[in-house]
Amino acid sequence: MCKLWMYPLFTAVLSAQHQSPADLAAATAGERTFRRHCSGCHGRNAQGGHGPDLTRGGKSDDDLIRTISEGIGGTDMEPYRERLAAEEIASIVTYIRASRRHGSQIHCDGKRGETLF
Ligand code: HEC
Repeated sequence: MCKLWMYPLFTAVLSAQHQSPADLAAATAGERTFRRHCSGCHGRNAQGGHGPDLTRGGKSDDDLIRTISEGIGGTDMEPYRERLAAEEIASIVTYIRASRRHGSQIHCDGKRGETLF
């Protein structure tokens, strides 16, 4: 369920995160890994090409991690579990999240937020 009061809270947490050096470092590492493994299909800035635009949001971090790890059966989206370390996948997710500019994809999942942040 989406509670409106969470929007300013999450936005504040996210923009504070953007300034955190650790998050920035993870996003930068993620960007490098993304360019190496993913941008051939998803575009240099994750905005789509052969594969879909990843910056529009709509997926939770858990969804992204699962999709990247397990791939999407029957499509060109292959599983990356064997090829990338868990931290590399996590840094790609941080990069994808940092590439999203709009607040609309912020998920109203308080529990997950608490464990993540
Ligand atoms: C060979 C091309 C190719 C490569 C390389 C590739 N993908 Fe994909 N990816 C796709 C295609 C095609 C789809 C859409 C599959 C479908 O039809 O649902 C997809 C789907 C996805 C989705 C789900 C998007 C959504 O909105 O449903 C994510 C997330 C994703 N890819 C992330 C990545 C990441 C991260 C990497 C690098 C580790 C990567 N992909 C590498 C082709 C690729």
